[in-house]
Amino acid sequence: MLQNWHRGLMLAWLLTPASALLRFSCSQLVTERLDPLVNPGVVGSPHLHQIIGGNSFNASMDPKTLSIPDAATCTTCTFADDFSNYWTAVLFFRARNGTYKRVPQKGNVYFEESHGGMTIYYIPSYQNKKVTAFKPGFRMITGDPTIRTKEEAAKYRQLTYTCLEDPMTRTGETLDMPKKPCKAGIMANLRFPTCWDGVNLDSADHSSHVSYPEGGTFENGAPCPATHPVPIPQLFYEIVWDTTAFNNPTDWPADGSQPFVWSYGDATGLGNHGDYVFGWKGNALQTAMDTNCNGDRCNGLGYQTIKNGNACMKKPSADENLDGWLSELPGGMPVTDAKGNVIM
Ligand SMILES: *[C@@H]1O[C@H](CO)[C@@H](O)[C@H](O)[C@H]1NC(C)=O
Ligand SMILES: *[C@@H]1O[C@H](CO)[C@@H](O)[C@H](O)[C@H]1NC(C)=O
Repeated sequence: MLQNWHRGLMLAWLLTPASALLRFSCSQLVTERLDPLVNPGVVGSPHLHQIIGGNSFNASMDPKTLSIPDAATCTTCTFADDFSNYWTAVLFFRARNGTYKRVPQKGNVYFEESHGGMTIYYIPSYQNKKVTAFKPGFRMITGDPTIRTKEEAAKYRQLTYTCLEDPMTRTGETLDMPKKPCKAGIMANLRFPTCWDGVNLDSADHSSHVSYPEGGTFENGAPCPATHPVPIPQLFYEIVWDTTAFNNPTDWPADGSQPFVWSYGDATGLGNHGDYVFGWKGNALQTAMDTNCNGDRCNGLGYQTIKNGNACMKKPSADENLDGWLSELPGGMPVTDAKGNVIM
């Protein structure tokens, strides 16, 4: 099932402009321990994030006072009117001697020159139904960093990994981290819920104001539930982690487990999660959703090159060593296994 969703999507994007969607590159803005949704105002959130989008990203981002498109002076996205922020955790390799090395990111297919970052999709609908774009102040989180079992992970339908045989591999998505070395890296895929309560721009857990469709999937056009009646675009992140420097089986754990851990201390991959703060200028996103724009260009929407996106960068709020072989994960985050036991 999972691979069919994704294959459908790639085919839609590559072949049939009738089923339009935005697919574009956003380079890295900064990698640091900041989380304006979960730990607003705190410099030094518990775990490390990689962040893309507008440079008004900071620790506070108070929706009551902040107008993101006015505060930002550049964006790492190629849609020049998109000053939103998108972030996820950061992947680390754990060596046999117990030290950690940050896994680099690389540009996705057609966006190879992107400095890390992500590929972002906004998918209005596969059935040409109208969707309501996000509003200023809207934010949400999908996934949960505390999850370590497939049963719990089932609550979030489409947070997966693709073991890349080559950069174009789009089959075999798994809920947990691939168990064998992946020749061209590991792609993390995060698809957000597509139904909104129509009222709240946020909620205490940053996710109960949105929901999945009922009696089917977004992909097959199932309706939104009465509690969350407003269809919103499917927001979808693809992140390519370049694990190729860590593919030597003799560097992998002797017990046969896989060596990659997330910055929030997850050795299973099941706590995969992503954060979003909407920040498109004016009506640009709604216009793109209404006019069946496809790919990374859209009539009437500003475009900048990936090179310009790469040039938008933010200085980390705190000095922290993220590279080299680290004796612990940034922030001292403990690593837990499928039973929630601390394993290092
Ligand atoms: C974040 O940026 C806003 C303006 O964009 C500023 O008022 C606020 O003080 C900043 N907060 C932090 C913690 O840097
Ligand atoms: C730990 O292992 C890594 C990878 O093999 C190696 O590069 C590093 O030097 C080792 N560190 C120590 C302290 O032995």
